[in-house]
Amino acid sequence: MKQTGGSDEAKRRAGESAADAVVDEMVVGLGTGSTAAAAIRALGRRVDAGLDIRGVPTSYQSRQLAREVGVPLTTLEEATPDVAIDGADRIADGDLIKGGGAAHAREKLVDAAADRFLVVADETKLAATLDVAVPVEVLPDAVPVVEDTLEALDGVPTLRAAERKDGPVVTDNGNLVIDCDFGAIAEPAALSADLAAIPGVVAHGLFIDMADEIHVGTGDSVDVRNRE
Ligand code: 5RP
Repeated sequence: MKQTGGSDEAKRRAGESAADAVVDEMVVGLGTGSTAAAAIRALGRRVDAGLDIRGVPTSYQSRQLAREVGVPLTTLEEATPDVAIDGADRIADGDLIKGGGAAHAREKLVDAAADRFLVVADETKLAATLDVAVPVEVLPDAVPVVEDTLEALDGVPTLRAAERKDGPVVTDNGNLVIDCDFGAIAEPAALSADLAAIPGVVAHGLFIDMADEIHVGTGDSVDVRNRE
């Protein structure tokens, strides 16, 4: 799993706090990343203790972890999630940038389908504005065209390189990821609409007005912010 900022302890607290909101018979969207993994592990312990739930994974990583810790799985074809629990790379005013793990296409699908979306994060993810590069998943053939369009939107695009493989990161869906730096994003909703309209873009990492609750783990507590 990739390493991100924030202590493991803070991530564990955030993940466990959101997992506590899950009750019997729920279908749960299982997010991707180290903080969502803490929630999946907590759910696994609760399933061992008798909790009756099914999970909808958002990535290869979350599916494997759920299997490992014994969370039974289902699909969006079979069931609609009552709740989704997922991490974030940046949180500002309730809006998110996601996709640090290149899973944002399925994350957006599952998180948006859920009746409630709980974000789990450590406090290093909080910011005044969304100010990290926005991951944009694109069809492989579309990379040059999409890069030109992103530059026309005043972004600085970089094709995400794999770390232990030559060449680019390939997503679970067989696509590539362009990380596009827009600086501090003044109008995230407008940018989200612009990015979604680019032919060849499968999904981008701006999650606007989707979060219902944000569980922020710190060194010694969890701050739960309700946005409903
Ligand atoms: C993966 C994601 C992750 O949720 C995001 O990168 C946060 O990860 P972490 O909890 O490890 O900091 O969007 O695509």
